[in-house]
Amino acid sequence: MKKAIAKPVSVKRASEAPKHRLRPAALKDALALATLAEELGYASRPAVLRKRLMNILERADHLVAVAEKGKEISGWIHAHSFVALESGFRVEILGLIVGKNARRLGLGGLLVAEAEAWAARIRAEAVTVRSNLKRVESHAFYPALGFTKVKMQAVYRKSV
Ligand SMILES: CC(C)(COP(=O)(O)OP(=O)(O)OC[C@H]1O[C@@H](n2cnc3c(N)ncnc32)[C@H](O)[C@@H]1OP(=O)(O)O)[C@@H](O)C(=O)NCCC(=O)NCCS
Repeated sequence: MKKAIAKPVSVKRASEAPKHRLRPAALKDALALATLAEELGYASRPAVLRKRLMNILERADHLVAVAEKGKEISGWIHAHSFVALESGFRVEILGLIVGKNARRLGLGGLLVAEAEAWAARIRAEAVTVRSNLKRVESHAFYPALGFTKVKMQAVYRKSV
């Protein structure tokens, strides 16, 4: 996967994407983040998401950024950095969603570029993302941004 920062794909949508600005997420965004997460199929109660966000915002190894127009949040990204013995220091995108009404404006590309810029700043070796096969848009989106599909895998889970 490329370390170079992808160009934000906003040229043809120059009229719309620049009306959005990217900024770090804040606790006051919890409701908007939860509402967008619901679109993705993660029904998180805003209070629960707020608690998680509070915890995450205190950590330097996480990035949460939002794209907003006026007071409306149209998309968000959550990424974290970690070191794996076998694969080194990476940034992984843990969540990315652009609201249905704001898609194909370049916002997803801008949010990923933000994670890539952060990865470059902290000298991560790569940015990775796992995306469920059912997220059809994402499998056109990431290759369009220069990401290469490196493997398919199953996810296992056990409650503790
Ligand atoms: C995937 C997602 C984040 C893309 O956000 P977006 O803001 O619409 O993406 P962009 O406008 O930046 O798209 C950049 C490029 O990706 C490709 N792309 C994005 N969505 C696509 C789609 N539905 N079909 C085909 N190509 C697509 C295109 O090449 C696009 O450039 P173009 O519009 O000039 O053709 C958005 O569709 C989404 O939130 N989907 C549901 C959640 C999800 O799948 N999240 C990722 C899980 S890790």
